[in-house]
Amino acid sequence: MTAEIVVTGEDGVRIIRMNRPDKKNALTQPMYAEMIRALREAEASDATRCVVLAGGPGAFCAGSDISDFQKRAEEGGLKPVTVDFLHALVRNPKPLLAAVDGLAIGIGTTMLLHCDYVVATQAATFATPFTKLGLIPEAASSLLGPMRMGHARAFALLVMGRSMSAEEAKAAGLINAVVDAAALDSTVLQAAREVAALPAGAVALARKLMRGNLDELARRVDTEAMHFKERLQSEEARAAFAAFVARKK
Ligand code: COA
Repeated sequence: MTAEIVVTGEDGVRIIRMNRPDKKNALTQPMYAEMIRALREAEASDATRCVVLAGGPGAFCAGSDISDFQKRAEEGGLKPVTVDFLHALVRNPKPLLAAVDGLAIGIGTTMLLHCDYVVATQAATFATPFTKLGLIPEAASSLLGPMRMGHARAFALLVMGRSMSAEEAKAAGLINAVVDAAALDSTVLQAAREVAALPAGAVALARKLMRGNLDELARRVDTEAMHFKERLQSEEARAAFAAFVARKK
């Protein structure tokens, strides 16, 4: 079986690649667990100077797996590993970069708010259809979204569920650069090597100062998660999940 999370590394750069192409890299609970493990390994390794989150051609990540959402709605009460992943992102001490081609949906977009440098292709689209699914924004995006792009743009993205093109995402400050698909990996690797070559202590401290109050971010993750869990069991959400699953038949 091919690994759905592939971790590789060289020259101080660790790459965590989502690899479930048949499901557009929709993230399952075991995939979240693997990503947490990879982030913790990166944290523990002095040789790792920065981390790159990557997907595949045409799909960075289509969000959390909706069948998992459905299961959680039915079973209720489970502590989702997704929340642990969000805390791992908040507390991750290494600079985080991302390479995005194609779809970045739901957490595929909100995880980028925890990244320090993001490169995307012209074909990248960013969307968070939380409310369309009867849900609410997660990953502290209700705090980081308005901070990063202003309330108006954050509302259109996070509440109205409107998608952003790569150029719009760049203008909104969500991503750093837009490149041709053929140049995606080399551009992000070049930036990662640039970061990796800097004095690690200075980078870590500068980044920590820039990221502000991590306890506040962690609290927002938990508050959103509490509401998200309630929303998962709402009639609105159950109907939306059923419609998505039925759509496939
Ligand atoms: N959860 C579970 N399965 C997903 C998924 C998700 N978030 N996103 C995509 N998939 C699956 C599809 O069900 C399909 O599976 P199948 O081949 O067994 O039928 C496969 O991935 C390919 O997706 P498909 O819908 O055929 O591709 P597309 O290019 O027409 O559309 C998307 C891609 C991502 C736009 C569409 O799949 C979609 O809207 N997904 C849901 C995204 C979402 O709402 N995520 C949660 C945000 S909170």
